[in-house]
Amino acid sequence: MTFTSVSDSDIQFFQELLQDRCSISHDDLKKYSHDETEDLEVLPNVVLKPNTPEEVSQILKHCNERNICVTPSGARTGLSGGAIPLYGGVAMSMEKFDQIIEIDEDNHQVTVEPGVITQVLQEAVKEKGLFYPPDPASKGSCFIGGNVSENSGGPKAVKYGVTNEYVLNLEVVLPSGEIIWTGANVLKNATGYPLTQLMVGSEGTLGVITKIVLKLIPHPTHDLLMLVPFYSATEACEAVTAIFKVGITPSGLEFMERDALTWTQSFLDDTSINVADNHAAHLLIEVDGFDPEKLMAECAQIMDVLENFETDEILFAESQAQKDTLWRLRRSVGEAVKANSIYKEEDTVVPRYELPKLLEHVKRIGAEYGFTSVCYGHAGDGNLHINIIKGEMSDEKWNNELSKAIRELFTEVVALGGTLSGEHGIGLVQKQYMDIPFSETSLNLMRGIKDVFDPKGILNPGKVF
Ligand code: LAC
Ligand code: ZN
Repeated sequence: MTFTSVSDSDIQFFQELLQDRCSISHDDLKKYSHDETEDLEVLPNVVLKPNTPEEVSQILKHCNERNICVTPSGARTGLSGGAIPLYGGVAMSMEKFDQIIEIDEDNHQVTVEPGVITQVLQEAVKEKGLFYPPDPASKGSCFIGGNVSENSGGPKAVKYGVTNEYVLNLEVVLPSGEIIWTGANVLKNATGYPLTQLMVGSEGTLGVITKIVLKLIPHPTHDLLMLVPFYSATEACEAVTAIFKVGITPSGLEFMERDALTWTQSFLDDTSINVADNHAAHLLIEVDGFDPEKLMAECAQIMDVLENFETDEILFAESQAQKDTLWRLRRSVGEAVKANSIYKEEDTVVPRYELPKLLEHVKRIGAEYGFTSVCYGHAGDGNLHINIIKGEMSDEKWNNELSKAIRELFTEVVALGGTLSGEHGIGLVQKQYMDIPFSETSLNLMRGIKDVFDPKGILNPGKVF
């Protein structure tokens, strides 16, 4: 792909449009050169921070005419390299779009700009008794626009669904500079192709989202949380399906292999939980709702199910503080792994009954290629985050053999009925494996869609396929 480089006259155009919200300082270029994906970075030529759809429109129109590439950028917490400006050009930060425009209590909807931090949005609607469930681990720093672009999930997805189940309508600026709304602010919509859903998860490759209308639901009033130690990681995975089979849908069903928990304890310097030598894995199980007695009954049912497995003593969180501690541990696993070793993170997802087999494949392939792995994730969704740890592996093997091992792993995942990413997206780092879940015919359909939206390919080039 070849793009026009950003010239002095382009910079002048951007400066006239945005004044000090146009930067070519090295610090800024560096800041917008990466997200949270391993250690990858590519510097953009200029960082732009528009704050109206009209400004976005003018930037895109200019860049499209000049053939300058544009990479939209949120809070840069992504894990597949989606925000890395691979071909330089413009990094377009959406951080100035930071307003919650309207909480519509009559219709249980909120209209929000893409640069609002997800947790800020959640807290604002909670004050009205309303709930926006999708809660990625990075909810305290990620942007809702990034969540929409990646179709993010998080622990609550198992009961409440992922981002796309909440997005009703989007204001989008197309690469041509035209501004459109993709749908309507309604709960059902059978009117034409679902452009809204097409935008969700499109990783900033089709258009730039400038307003988001989300569905909300009543906020549950109670929840219960338990941490269950297992002596076998396989059994922990098997217990997941067994819980659903008795008719319970937990609001969180998270799996952590031993190292995921102990590394995070060290990382956070948190000794609140005693992990015994023979604990191989834990399930963190949450139920929520409006009736405390019903939740107690659900926990009793879960305990009955767990009787069929070999577990150590179950820890019930007794206070909000203890719940917060347990969730903090779980939410910090990714960061803890990152701090511990050179690693490569996968975001595989399989039908949840297949989780034990997936775990088996991970360990077998690891033994074959000489890597270890730390696995954790949203077991209730069959979504396993696999952290491949470099550890003792030689640089040569790490650089030359890892993609073969990952290809083998993804082939097993797809054979189990699963796919490459549950919630982190394809971005830059997984695109080389897209031929495993998709035929050339399917990939060509996607390429065709990209062409319709972005004929010159200026928007977030080098991502997805
Ligand atoms: C998590 C992120 C990495 O579940 O998706 O912790
Ligand atoms: Zn996750």
